[in-house]
Amino acid sequence: MSSMRLKARFAGPLRGRARPPGDKSISHRALILGALAHGVTEIDGLLEAEDVLCTAQAVRQFGAQADKRDDGRWRVTGAGGFSQPSDTIDCGNSGTAARLLMGAASGFKLSARLDGDQSLRKRPMNRVVAPLSQMGARFDSTENRLPLIVHGGKLKGVTYRSPVSSAQVKSAVLLAGLRAEGETVLIEPERSRDHTERMLGVFGADIDSIEVDGGQHPRVRPSQLRGANIYVPADPSSAAFPIAAALILGKSEIRVEDVLVNPLRLGFYETLLEMGAKLTYEERRDPIGEPIADIVAQSSKLHGASPPAKRAPAMIDEFPILSVVAAFAQGETRIVGASELRVKESDRITLMVDGLKACGVDAEELPDGLIVRGNGPKSVRGGAQIRTLGDHRVAMSFLVLGMASKEPVTVDDAEMIATSFPDFIGCMQKLGADIREV
Ligand code: S3P
Repeated sequence: MSSMRLKARFAGPLRGRARPPGDKSISHRALILGALAHGVTEIDGLLEAEDVLCTAQAVRQFGAQADKRDDGRWRVTGAGGFSQPSDTIDCGNSGTAARLLMGAASGFKLSARLDGDQSLRKRPMNRVVAPLSQMGARFDSTENRLPLIVHGGKLKGVTYRSPVSSAQVKSAVLLAGLRAEGETVLIEPERSRDHTERMLGVFGADIDSIEVDGGQHPRVRPSQLRGANIYVPADPSSAAFPIAAALILGKSEIRVEDVLVNPLRLGFYETLLEMGAKLTYEERRDPIGEPIADIVAQSSKLHGASPPAKRAPAMIDEFPILSVVAAFAQGETRIVGASELRVKESDRITLMVDGLKACGVDAEELPDGLIVRGNGPKSVRGGAQIRTLGDHRVAMSFLVLGMASKEPVTVDDAEMIATSFPDFIGCMQKLGADIREV
């Protein structure tokens, strides 16, 4: 596999505006729900990154039409359900593609083989295989990893208590529930992102929520979806990188436009505010589906924080960049309740702690998180070549570190940034960063 090395060095303050690419979670869902629906779904702002393009190709293989009409503008013509694919479905690096497609496919009379890259092949699929099997789907796999075959068919509804707070698990079960006899309820320890629930409503599904053990949990009944128009706001998980850089670089001020501000995605931003970040939400608007705002970030004097464990699902993809921000804050930041980080695109706890230490930061691994002891701005040495194991968010996080450290930072393999933020370099350069290929 080819690898692209990138180097980030200090280049002064960040200024200007940026519009990060479309939200990855919403993009996957728009394609999958559009394919399950009868009729036409028009999508505006789709994230055209490798993960989502895998889902676009997958839904074609399951019988839908999915065409790019212009930048970010896609039309999906659903066949009202999934049909037998002739070839293996390649989910690439995307856990969301794999798990949501397994759920969606379970309710149809078909057998589909799903596979992915080396990283995805290592990730646990039992978390979806278990509930989908309870509902009546069958799986052929070795130790519940990809490649696997899902045999769909007649399903029965379940009330499933997921041991993990995972929107991928929840979505897989709810999508299967669209085709299951009776009702399907998903109970999770802490609420994970609710894009599937919101979007199912927009596509006309019979979905609501019920109270169980004092919390609200989604319930779906058999439904035929109808095509819908979906707008995809900018991804708050991608916006996190320029915003983090502006906070830790003196004299910066940037406006990041059109960002999804669903409360279940804002854990990182809440934590930044607790650390003393100068961060404001402006031009808030609430169109059908999902709330949106511009986020203005200014350089800030930050101090350490200890976000509560129950906030982890609302900031799960932002822990790598949070641990970089913490290195530039004064005092200790303690991240707990985040053991899910060990089964992401890489073991993000080990990789972040190793990389931070290599850059001269005092960091320590915990079983379910990490501790970073920061010494304020301008205290971080940098000057390392970082091993990313092809993890896009680890790569982007260390490039942000390199923008504010004394010595430049190189990441060993930046190719995978294209899975979620294809124009990351362009976006950061436009704001004033010095990030280059070496
Ligand atoms: C996602 C859910 C999260 C997140 C991933 C996208 C989704 O994973 O880490 O990047 O779109 O549902 P889990 O649900 O496994 O925590």
